[in-house]
Amino acid sequence: MNYISIENIDSLQKWVKQALKIKKNPLKNKKLGKNKTLGMLFFNPSLRTRLSTQKAALNLGMNVMVMNFTNEGWTLEFGDGAIMDQGASEHIKEAAAVVSQYCDIIAIRAFAGLTDKEKDNAETVLTGFLKYATVPVVNMESATGHPLQSLADAITMEEHKTTHRPKVVLTWAPHPKALPQAVANSFVQMMQLQEADFVITHPKGYELNPEITKDSTIEYDQNKAFENADFIYAKNWSNYNDYGKITNSDPNWTVNAAKMALTNNAKFMHCLPVRRNVIVSDEVIDSENSIVIEQANNRTYSAQLVLQKILENGK
Ligand code: CP
Repeated sequence: MNYISIENIDSLQKWVKQALKIKKNPLKNKKLGKNKTLGMLFFNPSLRTRLSTQKAALNLGMNVMVMNFTNEGWTLEFGDGAIMDQGASEHIKEAAAVVSQYCDIIAIRAFAGLTDKEKDNAETVLTGFLKYATVPVVNMESATGHPLQSLADAITMEEHKTTHRPKVVLTWAPHPKALPQAVANSFVQMMQLQEADFVITHPKGYELNPEITKDSTIEYDQNKAFENADFIYAKNWSNYNDYGKITNSDPNWTVNAAKMALTNNAKFMHCLPVRRNVIVSDEVIDSENSIVIEQANNRTYSAQLVLQKILENGK
């Protein structure tokens, strides 16, 4: 079993319930991962994913090895039949096969490069490991998805919802750096499995991949979208059409108290790290309605559920 995207979840409601059970007694399956090793390979920085996934593995009694590929690993070649006379020192064929001998599960973080849409959509790094590794692979945020994050988001919403069918708004917000669409993509896919009134709001031109958003409502008026919302999930992403570019920095899209006042006393969510007073004002993220820290805590239980399922699955 691999965990690559939200599509790997057979029943989101069941998984959320199971994760909440793990949260109540995280050390219950401490023996399950005995003598098993998780290898975590990072091609990009991390705080939450690295520590929460490591914590999850330790809760299951696993050993953990972490490698920062960008600084410490050989530069990898992913092309079949490549003549390797340029910068890359090692082919993914050998690298993935070798790591598979040391680890029982391989977890990978490899962001979008944001210069070549086709290459990012092809998920070169993740696909390379999937093709050549001989053990299960977990996505710790790839070019197009962050399914461990959106599973944690689902767990957090389940804990905080006060109505069976909440209104949930994914709002774009400005950011000084071009960011991938991965978190937003997985959040949309996860919301499509929820009983909810789900709305995406962003400036015109900032549409996400239409194959992902095809079943979701888009409202270009952010104030209108916020009306009566129960959850506001803020996230920046760079332009998907004018790929990887920042074509809007309008500070009017920052989530502030005046906008939150339009909602039904909504909870504020963000995957973190967050740029204060750019994405969200201090008064909102510091308010009692902000659940960003609990959201980050649930990253442990989403990762633990996934690792547990893989260990139980046995391959
Ligand atoms: N939300 C999240 O993935 O955080 P990190 O980038 O710090 O891992």
